Amino acid sequence: MKLTASPGSALKGEAAIPGDKSCSHRALILGAMAEGETRIAGLLESEDVLATARAVEALGAKIERSDSGPWLVHGGAWSSPSAPVDCGNSGTAARLLAGAIAGMRDVRATLTGDASLSARPMQRVTAPLERMGAHIEGGDRLPLTVHGGRLSGIDHRNVPASAQVKSAILLAGLGTDAPVRVLEPAPSRDHSEIMLAMFGCPVELDDTPEGWAVSLGEKRCLSGCHLRIGADPSSAAFPLVAAAIVPGSRVEAKGVIVNPLRTGLYEVLEAMGANIELANERIQSGEIVADMSVGHSDLRPCAVRAGQVPSMIDEIPALAVACAFADGESVIEGLGELRVKESDRLAGIVAGLTACGVATAVDGDSLRIFGKGSVRGGGRVVTHGDHRIAMAFLTLGLASEKPVEVDEAEMIATSFPGFVETMRSLGADIG
Ligand code: S3P
Repeated sequence: MKLTASPGSALKGEAAIPGDKSCSHRALILGAMAEGETRIAGLLESEDVLATARAVEALGAKIERSDSGPWLVHGGAWSSPSAPVDCGNSGTAARLLAGAIAGMRDVRATLTGDASLSARPMQRVTAPLERMGAHIEGGDRLPLTVHGGRLSGIDHRNVPASAQVKSAILLAGLGTDAPVRVLEPAPSRDHSEIMLAMFGCPVELDDTPEGWAVSLGEKRCLSGCHLRIGADPSSAAFPLVAAAIVPGSRVEAKGVIVNPLRTGLYEVLEAMGANIELANERIQSGEIVADMSVGHSDLRPCAVRAGQVPSMIDEIPALAVACAFADGESVIEGLGELRVKESDRLAGIVAGLTACGVATAVDGDSLRIFGKGSVRGGGRVVTHGDHRIAMAFLTLGLASEKPVEVDEAEMIATSFPGFVETMRSLGADIG
């Protein structure tokens, strides 16, 4: 299905943002590993997360859900599924499940995924798991067959810092008493650490001269708990960037996760002159959440260093759109990891901006965007099945001079079901 976003009136109101994707995957997987019942409110009901729900059910968890109430997960007893476990489009599902299965004695499972996921590198997770003693059949790509077993400890240098790799190691390590430590050049998103504490297994954190160290503690047995998942800052990025670039707009998103390891986009937008307000900051299931609101303003260009990128890795398509509307040359460094996301996002951003009349230059892992304060639009953007590329360019089309068409839009449901309805409720012209 093609979609076209057209420039029109100002965007106003409250954007309904679904639950955080990273936290939703973790809640289901940890709930399935925990003894007893886990109650999850605010779970993201997207294609990606539903794939994880089906996966943990196939691995032995019982999942119940009453109408629109919380999800209930009864965990504890994992067994080998009779058929391959389909992780759909989700790297988080595949990598975290590989770790969880590796630490489960007598469980064996084959992980598969869609075409995009089957092209993404897995060795970054299988290599450390094998060093812990896991037996994994397959190469650097799905399908992989993971044989759970008795693992030894590990002291792993997580470079480039990947939260999925760190999480896989921590989940595998729950099956051993041996020391398990992950050392990162700079901390990657810490939702696993926060949620492990909610399940009764606090991890130890240490800022060492060699880097940020995350270690499992002595207690490694998870107990079911109650969780409320905050709204996803990566999904909120699209309506909030739209508000920043469409004249006269002001959009609010309530209960958004503002964990500092996820808010890089908003810090950069603020430095660009965006009009951002934060209210009602509170702790919810261990995470900081707040109500965010963004209004239109003229944007200055930005300079983003490689070290800042992990805190906005999924928001680079949205940031690139904001840069296209800034007046001057923006530079974003350290984008190598974008090449192995749901698509080659660096190529997708460049092709999309070019189609919409915005000049760019790529030098190694750095992207330059030559903003002129306004964007011609009028392009047809090829998404390569990538949900965030689709949402980014629909956002751009709301503020450009001519409409912007994206060639495919179904996969937006991977992370933000209801995106189009939410944007329309704010006054966006997307058809
Ligand atoms: C995620 C971590 C990030 C991010 C991905 C979700 C997670 O990837 O891009 O969308 O849930 O842990 P890395 O593992 O490369 O940090």
